[in-house]
Amino acid sequence: MTRLDDRSGRPLRNLRLSVTDRCNLRCHYCMPEEEYAWLPRQEILHFGEVAALVDVFVGLGVDKVRLTGGEPLLRRELPRLVRMLAAKPGLRDLAITTNGVLLGDQAQALRDAGLGRVTVSLDTLRAERFAALTRRTTHAEVLAGIRAAVRAGFSGLKLDTVVIRGVNDDELDELVEFAKATSAEIRFIEYMDVGGATRWSMDQVVSRQEMLAVLARRYGRIEPIIEESSAPAVRYRLADGTIFGIIASTTQPFCARCDRSRLTADGTWYLCLYAREGVDLRGPFRAGASPEELGALITGRWRTRADRGAEERLALRAREPLLRVGELRTDPRLEMHTRGG
Ligand code: GTP
Ligand code: 5AD
Ligand code: SF4
Repeated sequence: MTRLDDRSGRPLRNLRLSVTDRCNLRCHYCMPEEEYAWLPRQEILHFGEVAALVDVFVGLGVDKVRLTGGEPLLRRELPRLVRMLAAKPGLRDLAITTNGVLLGDQAQALRDAGLGRVTVSLDTLRAERFAALTRRTTHAEVLAGIRAAVRAGFSGLKLDTVVIRGVNDDELDELVEFAKATSAEIRFIEYMDVGGATRWSMDQVVSRQEMLAVLARRYGRIEPIIEESSAPAVRYRLADGTIFGIIASTTQPFCARCDRSRLTADGTWYLCLYAREGVDLRGPFRAGASPEELGALITGRWRTRADRGAEERLALRAREPLLRVGELRTDPRLEMHTRGG
């Protein structure tokens, strides 16, 4: 297979597959409203359609798939989709990003179905803080979900924390300790001005540099781990060997190495997290396009890809939220929870 590259030589490799736009939390940084315009049900891809589209992507070089949402565990019978995807020889890595609330019930079934890796969002260890941040009181379920993932035997468990000034930036060391005790790798994520983050402001962003300074006060020397990868996280090692990551998508974006694209639950394909427009794959698929025709459509679009959304945002002098609630109402696909976090 010849490698499919975009205009900057970035390969098509990492597909984020959103299986639902629904969520059972209302995180301040992603879904601050209670009600949203949802994708129409009849437009949501069936598992067979998802699997067929994944086959086309795998044929073009995709070897990593990450299931996302909304909250992916809200999608009924998700282990059945996992089983279908896990059977594909071309997929080297099959992972999920979940908020963990339903993981206690589903971790074992997902593992049995062949899921490879799990990442759980964990922004705080404090139940009252969780309630304020998510508008739901299910913090204990998230912690139980993390334990269940460990029990089910998932190795390479990751915890993702979006760090927001004045909200959870005083918990970095406690989260490192929690991850250590759980044998998980924690990654601290800079607060991003993506669609959905309508209350974002630059002064709430805690930069990578600042996070490292805070952690160095507690842990002393922090050694960066030098590695060649397209992953967004830069990893670090503490003196006792503990490894953690920082994803500096806001102050030091990784666009130059970005090999990701996203398929929404209704089959719209986005070439960048920040892109306004996506490519409709559901329409042609349901109209009977062959795998070759779909492959040609995807190839043509990827070859012309020039997106560097996060870098372009960084270049702005006065930076405000990307979108306003009114604009988001006109197209639910602009939301982070529709594109997969
Ligand atoms: P692995 O390296 O395979 O474990 O996956 P990952 O690092 O992509 O993991 P995950 O899905 O947990 O992503 C972590 C966070 O990185 C997301 O929640 C976002 O905040 C950020 N992120 C993910 N994808 C993108 C992207 O395409 N662009 C930008 N700018 N940030 C992203
Ligand atoms: N900034 C950074 N990360 C975000 N996510 C969602 N919204 C944002 C944002 N505004 C990511 C987080 C979360 C996942 C579901 O999506 O990593 O854990
Ligand atoms: Fe990739 Fe766009 Fe994110 Fe940059 S902003 S890393 S190009 S998805």
